[in-house]
Amino acid sequence: KYQISYFMPEKPTYEWVKKDHIDKAPIWCSVDLRDGNQALIEPMSLDEKLEFFKMLVEIGFKEIEIGFPAASDTEYKFARTLIENNMIPDDVTIQVLTQAREHIIKKTFEAVKGAPHAVIHLYNSTSVAQREQVFKKSKEEVKQIAIDGAKLLNDLAQKAEGDFSFEYSPESFPGTEVEYAVEVCNAVLDVWKPTKEHKAIINIPTTVEIAMPHVFATQVETINKTLKYREGVVLSLHPHNDRGCGISDAELGLLAGADRIEGTLFGNGERTGNVDIVTLAMNMVSHGVDSKLDFSDITKIGETYERLTRMKIYERSPYGGALVFTAFSGSHQDAISKGFAYRKENMDKPWSVPYLPIDPKDLGREYDGDVIRINSQSGKGGVSYILEHNFGMAVPKQMQSDVGYTMKGVSDKEHAELDPERVYEIFMDKYVNPA
Ligand code: KIV
Ligand code: ZN
Repeated sequence: KYQISYFMPEKPTYEWVKKDHIDKAPIWCSVDLRDGNQALIEPMSLDEKLEFFKMLVEIGFKEIEIGFPAASDTEYKFARTLIENNMIPDDVTIQVLTQAREHIIKKTFEAVKGAPHAVIHLYNSTSVAQREQVFKKSKEEVKQIAIDGAKLLNDLAQKAEGDFSFEYSPESFPGTEVEYAVEVCNAVLDVWKPTKEHKAIINIPTTVEIAMPHVFATQVETINKTLKYREGVVLSLHPHNDRGCGISDAELGLLAGADRIEGTLFGNGERTGNVDIVTLAMNMVSHGVDSKLDFSDITKIGETYERLTRMKIYERSPYGGALVFTAFSGSHQDAISKGFAYRKENMDKPWSVPYLPIDPKDLGREYDGDVIRINSQSGKGGVSYILEHNFGMAVPKQMQSDVGYTMKGVSDKEHAELDPERVYEIFMDKYVNPA
């Protein structure tokens, strides 16, 4: 889908970096319909979830956490609707979340009865704070909750209709002693005994992000080295964004050995959100890595997302925000218009237009109206670009400065952006047909 190759800095490698993880997309799992949905003021209706699910499939997600079926009627019915109407493509695996509590696990299995293939995602909180304040249980007791849940999954999966695999998350991991988190995960793995042929997922959530990204990456490295049955384990990360570092956690965590990322479109999710998969994937594309996800019509995806979630995409949200490819300031516009001219003559070279980290067309965005826009900050380069590009009027070099100042002046006085038609009108009135 993506046409462009990008100018790339050299990638230094460090001792801790897993080299085979640099140029490879991880396994992606969308948690939009679960973590994203549970954080909405008004959670999605069944029809809205269906539409969102279809969009995720079109984008290319092969693993989709569809909800927490025991949490509400809609969640339960959504799972049943997908399964009973054969709406899950063969190459897509659905995933459902359950707490490690008997009645919830049982209800979850009922919800996915007959699924062609489903991941049952088991979690319990393991942090010091939750052990002491919420559960008032010892480390051993909390570990036992995970073990009992894991056993029940084994038992029910054996009896159930359908093909199931398992995922375990030590929820509230950032507040958990790392060695203890590994101990609990290994105890769960001892129950499941995953193999290369029948893998289990161990998912490390930054339920509430409290550490710097290199600290998290070091924890991931420890986990990667100390998990049992490693060949049979998919090591997954589930970054949240409380410190604004969800992307860094994911990128460094992948380099430290993780195989899989759980996140959402545009970073929806609890509090400050889950990690934004649009940004992660497009960061990869900009490094020449096939992300295996298709964001080549980001405008349509963004509109659908906004309509279904009733959330707004921040104008400066990487790649998807309305203003992220826009330049108002004169020096930026000048460099961009020169960069475009250079690019026309050098299509065989990697994309390197100044101030545009990627080609907006790779996201289905246009140069017209998206990139060079005129206000009081703009300069002659931008104004000349608009007149030539939109109206075929090449402003002579000697006039450009004057024309630029004219537009700046009008915009400053009116305190408003000038759209291309208005730029043309002002130009005609002053320079072509003066009164
Ligand atoms: O953030 C979190 O810890 C979660 C778990 C349930 C995986 O969403
Ligand atoms: Zn989460």
